[in-house]
Amino acid sequence: MVRHRKIGNAHQKHGNNNDTSSSSGSSESSITKKTFKILSLWKTIVGFTCFMIAVYVGTLGYLETRVNTPFDDEKVVSDSGLSVPERYWGTYRPGVYMGMKSREPRSPVFGLMWYELSAASHKGIRHWCDQNDNLASYGWLRHDGVTFGEQLMVDQPHNITTSFVKTPGGEHGGHWTVRINVTANGNAKVPFMLIWYGALDESLGPAAPHSRLWVEHGAILGHTPQLRNFRVTFVPYKGRLLHTSYSEAYAPGLHLLKEKLYSLLKVERHSTFGRLAVLSPDAELNDEEKDVNFVPFQMLVETPFVLDVVYATEDLPAPPLKGDEYTRVLEQKKSSFDAEFEDKFQLAAKGYSEEDIAIARAAMSNMIGGIGYFYGAGRVRSQYTREPVPYWRAPLYTAVPSRSFFPRGFLWDEGFHGLLIGSWSPEIQMDIAAHWLDLINVEGWIPREQILGAEALARVPKEFVVQSNAAANPPILLMQLARQARRRPELFEPHGPLRPALDRMFPRLQAWYQWFQSSQKGEEPTSYRWRGREDDGMQLNPKTLASGLDDYPRASHPSEAERHVDLRCWLYAAADSMAYLARLLHRDPTRFEVTRDQLADEELLNELHWSPHTQTYADYGLHTDGVRLVRQPPKHPGESPRVVRSVTVPPQLKLVTSAFGYVSLFPMLLKVLRPESDKLGKILQDLDKPDLLWSPYGLRSLSKSSPLYMKRNTEHDPPYWRGQVWVNVNFLALSALRHYAAAAGPHAARAAALHAGLRQNLVRNILSEYKRTGYLWEQYSSEDGKGSGCRPFTGWTALVTLIMAEEY
Ligand SMILES: *[C@@H]1O[C@H](CO)[C@@H](O)[C@H](O)[C@H]1NC(C)=O
Ligand SMILES: *[C@@H]1O[C@H](CO)[C@@H](O)[C@H](O)[C@H]1NC(C)=O
Repeated sequence: MVRHRKIGNAHQKHGNNNDTSSSSGSSESSITKKTFKILSLWKTIVGFTCFMIAVYVGTLGYLETRVNTPFDDEKVVSDSGLSVPERYWGTYRPGVYMGMKSREPRSPVFGLMWYELSAASHKGIRHWCDQNDNLASYGWLRHDGVTFGEQLMVDQPHNITTSFVKTPGGEHGGHWTVRINVTANGNAKVPFMLIWYGALDESLGPAAPHSRLWVEHGAILGHTPQLRNFRVTFVPYKGRLLHTSYSEAYAPGLHLLKEKLYSLLKVERHSTFGRLAVLSPDAELNDEEKDVNFVPFQMLVETPFVLDVVYATEDLPAPPLKGDEYTRVLEQKKSSFDAEFEDKFQLAAKGYSEEDIAIARAAMSNMIGGIGYFYGAGRVRSQYTREPVPYWRAPLYTAVPSRSFFPRGFLWDEGFHGLLIGSWSPEIQMDIAAHWLDLINVEGWIPREQILGAEALARVPKEFVVQSNAAANPPILLMQLARQARRRPELFEPHGPLRPALDRMFPRLQAWYQWFQSSQKGEEPTSYRWRGREDDGMQLNPKTLASGLDDYPRASHPSEAERHVDLRCWLYAAADSMAYLARLLHRDPTRFEVTRDQLADEELLNELHWSPHTQTYADYGLHTDGVRLVRQPPKHPGESPRVVRSVTVPPQLKLVTSAFGYVSLFPMLLKVLRPESDKLGKILQDLDKPDLLWSPYGLRSLSKSSPLYMKRNTEHDPPYWRGQVWVNVNFLALSALRHYAAAAGPHAARAAALHAGLRQNLVRNILSEYKRTGYLWEQYSSEDGKGSGCRPFTGWTALVTLIMAEEY
């Protein structure tokens, strides 16, 4: 407990000062009383000052360590590693096209690379999911998160299907088999390079002597303390294997495997191909300090070709799956998966075509197949730390927003992911939430973005690595837990299987909730303000990253007088969820209920956020619409011109009504308004106006009439939440519309009609864009419906599955 030690130091210093003053006090007789008095006063002042400095330094030390001190209570994750055998092995490397690892901090990793042989192709080696590879499509078509999955990657002219099936049993994680099936257009016999590798993660220090990898008789062999001895064999099932080479090598980190592989390729003469790049011995191993930690096998094959990669552990007598038996088991798993999917979401029963159902399955499967297992320490700072400091090392089992662009954990995204994952498997979702809640610190803060391990760090621009403990992120993970408990009460009743985990979560949820209440408070009672907005003079409107809505326009000049209507509504929803969970767990719900009812008080809400003038809800702050980006001539010769913000009209304290969009809808989106509210009536009345937020593709984030609609924020930042259609907020809108449609009130009929129209628009466009482009996208244009931002984005866009199922 670092913080106790620091307090101890402070007290000790204080003690020393007292000693000094009392020992010198014994020379009293040699000086006059007056001098003594002055001296005594002087000493008291010095003593007191020293005391204050000591307290100050001690307190600073104490405050400095708070940001990376874990919350002091039982962890929620009580079982991990081999004690959860069914989730031990998995495709827990979402950032690579195909990879396997176990839920172990030092798990060995396995993975696939490939490249084309034809000299005309300069595509390079495929390994990490990368948008620049321009694959026509890829993603899991089926994945149950536990026992199997099947993925198609279209890398013209080839299709590469990867699947895996696990064989449970034994004490060391069981067996698994990965099948790689490569076909080419027109079934031509085309040579193709496949690489399968094993590697040891040394980010926590050298793996040897406890863990080792080597090659014997054409197989990868290895040993780790958890897995004991294991063996990976290559079994060609269909087609011709033309040439094999391998290397035992040393790689400086998991983030450099491809670079290492390039350096191992040496060109040889080959009877058929003339020249062939083959794997060669690693010269770096001549250095005695370095051990083998990377073993790639390269196979030149003629397509069509099917390879079984068979991982077997020594302690399990059952033979691992391969060949015809694998085909049989995979087919069986696929059909029971399809049946379970229909059972859960009822899409065929709702009349969707087989093609559309396949897309919904793929959306959910790539979210579940994108679940990763990360281990490491992020970097954080607070106002008391001089330099960023490391968070504690921790595991994170989490889904990711995008396997190519955001292959790591994001706090508010995970709340949305949980809605879908929890519908498929409440156990997996509780395990994910448990890992996130174990990342809470003693202050009640959870870092927004989780960059754990070398592979994750290598993909994040430097300026986004350090997380500040001032920054919040919407507490939707808390709302997701309450929703899950409401939907499946049997899992959470006193003897329910998920009850113990929820019990352990409660103190952490309470700390998180309390942190929101105290750290994001606004100046006015019951108002709230997102922290972390910074005006650097370059942005047209300073970003609010904490809100999750990044560049959505807020008050143009960040100030402490600001208050944010979306945050106030999030806190209503958080209080409501806490009250529900407290009741369920037989704890005192009173204070959550009091806050909830206060935040639901429409008169208070209207005083803070309703504009009688525009008849809309809005943020409040120091604002002007008179801003634009201008090119500033260089101050000194040789400098390049800069684009900066110019303010043409001075800002005033007022409601930011010109930024009409998602933020204005929050009192409806999070169901704060009563069903009979006239303000709700007004929101619904405006909702389907095409010149405001309604588009044939879903609700756009910012009104067409807003001055910042589709405006760049800086020279380098294109619009992001300034007009595009985002699926997560549309999901909230559908959920709210259904809620108000079901509540008997004067607006029920309108809400029902809006729900039907919005749902149809969203589903139609997301499905047709998938058919057109092969992907789900981060966002969609409200002008023509086209997917934009990154791809594949099977984070919250995959909620299309729940929207089709009408499960909110
Ligand atoms: C390999 O993929 C092709 C094309 O999808 C398919 O027709 C074939 O059945 C697959 N082979 C195996 C063994 O899975
Ligand atoms: C590859 O997959 C796509 C999408 O399923 C399919 O349309 C195409 O026919 C496949 N091509 C080959 C060579 O299997």
